[in-house]
Amino acid sequence: MTQTITRSGPNSTWLDRLWETERPEYLDRDDVSPEVHQKIIHGLDRLMRVSGLYESFVRWTLRPVAGIARPRILELGAGHGALSRALLDKAPNALVTASDVYQASVDDMLAGPLGTHPRAEVKLIDATAIDEPDGTYDLAVFCQSLHHLPPSMIGDVLREGTRVARKLVIIDGYRMPWWAVPAMLAFFVPTALAMNGFHFTHDGVVSLRKMYSADSLQQIAAGAGLRLHTRFEPPFHLVATATR
Ligand SMILES: C[S@@+](CC[C@H](N)C(=O)[O-])C[C@H]1O[C@@H](n2cnc3c(N)ncnc32)[C@H](O)[C@@H]1O
Repeated sequence: MTQTITRSGPNSTWLDRLWETERPEYLDRDDVSPEVHQKIIHGLDRLMRVSGLYESFVRWTLRPVAGIARPRILELGAGHGALSRALLDKAPNALVTASDVYQASVDDMLAGPLGTHPRAEVKLIDATAIDEPDGTYDLAVFCQSLHHLPPSMIGDVLREGTRVARKLVIIDGYRMPWWAVPAMLAFFVPTALAMNGFHFTHDGVVSLRKMYSADSLQQIAAGAGLRLHTRFEPPFHLVATATR
C-alpha cells in the first residue's frame, strides 16, 4: 500500500496535520516581482546575521568534511549566497559552488563577491534535477530551503544530492509540535514584522507550517533507499545528513 507523505510525518496528530499547508510563499510565486523576491531573501539574510546563525550553519556544514584537505562543496538554494561566502572564509582550502534555481539570485551572486572569488563558482541549479556528474562534490548543503518543495519532490532532492555529492546536509527549521505554535508565533511575528515587513513575515509563518519533521524525512529517505541521520540543533533547526 502506498503511504501518504505528510510534512509532519507518520506519527503526527490531526492537530499537527491541520497546521500543515501547501500555500505558496511569495518566494515561490511566479507572479511576484524580483524586487519583492529579493527583499524577502535579503530580509532572511539580515535575520540570520543578527541572530548569529551563520556561524552554526558553517559549523554544521563543515563537520562532515573535516578530514578532507580541499573539500568540494555545493550549496543548493543559496539565495543571497551568504552561507557560501562564510564557508569560503572559514575553510580556506574549500572550493564552493553557490547555486540557486532562481535566475535573479544567481545574477546577484555573480555580480557580488562570489562572482570573482578564486575558489567560488556560481550556477543555476535545480536541487531536484542537478545537472552535474555523479560524485562531483564531497558535500552538498541545502539550507532553509527544503520546505519550499512539496512532499512528492523531497525524494528527488535526497537522491540527486547524494548522487552528485558523497553527503547531503539539509538544514531547515525544526517542525514544532502543534502545542508550541502559539508561543512560536508570539515571538516570531512581531520580530519579523519589525525587522522585515509584511511579505517576509507572511513567508516566515507559511514556512513554519511547511517545515518537514525528522519522521517525515526518515520516511521519505527509507522509500528512496537512502540512509538519513537527523538531529535537533537548538534553538530552531533540524540538521539531516543523507548518504547512499
Ligand atoms: C528561504 S530561501 C533560503 C536562502 C538561503 N539558503 C538561506 O538560508 O537564507 C529558499 C531558497 O531556495 C531556493 N529554491 C527553491 N526551490 C529550489 C529548487 N528546486 N532548487 C534550488 N533552489 C531552490 C529559492 O530560490 C530560495 O533562494
